[in-house]
Amino acid sequence: MISKKMIEAINEQINKELYSAYIYLSMSAWFEEQSLSGMANWMHEQAKEEYDHAMRFFKFLTERGAQVILKAIEQPETEFKTPLNAFEMALEHEKFITGSINDLMSLAIKENDYATKSFLYWFIDEQVEEEDSVSAIVDDLKLVGDKGHGILMINRELGERTFSPDED
Ligand code: FEO
Repeated sequence: MISKKMIEAINEQINKELYSAYIYLSMSAWFEEQSLSGMANWMHEQAKEEYDHAMRFFKFLTERGAQVILKAIEQPETEFKTPLNAFEMALEHEKFITGSINDLMSLAIKENDYATKSFLYWFIDEQVEEEDSVSAIVDDLKLVGDKGHGILMINRELGERTFSPDED
C-alpha cells in the first residue's frame, strides 16, 4: 500500500522532471539562436531523457494503483549569458533534482515502503551520471573559455549525443 504522502511526493517529482525537460528545451532553443546546434542537440536529447524520467514515475504510480495528478509547469529561463552559464545552471538544477530524489528515498525509508525504495535506486544511480555528465561539460567549457575553436569542438562533440528511452 502506497501512502497518500508518497503519492503526493511522486506527483511533485513528475512535475519537477517535466520542468527539467522544459528547462533543457529552453536552453536548446537558446543554443539554436546562438548557432550552436550541437549544444542545442545535447539539450534537446537531455529534455527527452527528462520526459522519460517523468514517465517512469508516471508508470510507477499507475502500477501501484495511484492517480497521477499533473500540475502547471513553471516557465523556464529563456536567456543565458554564455554556453558556460547555461551548463552551470543545468548542473545546479541536477543537484537540486538529486536532493529531491534523496528526499523521496528518505520518505520511502521512513514509511517502510520497500517497493518505492527499490524503484528509486535506479534514480539514485541515474543522478550520479546526470551530475557527472553535465559537470564534465562545465569543466571543458571552463578550459576553453567562451570563444574560439574550443567552443566549436565541444559543440561538434555534443552534436553527436542521442538518447534512447531504453538507456539505463
Ligand atoms: Fe531527471 Fe536530470 O534528472
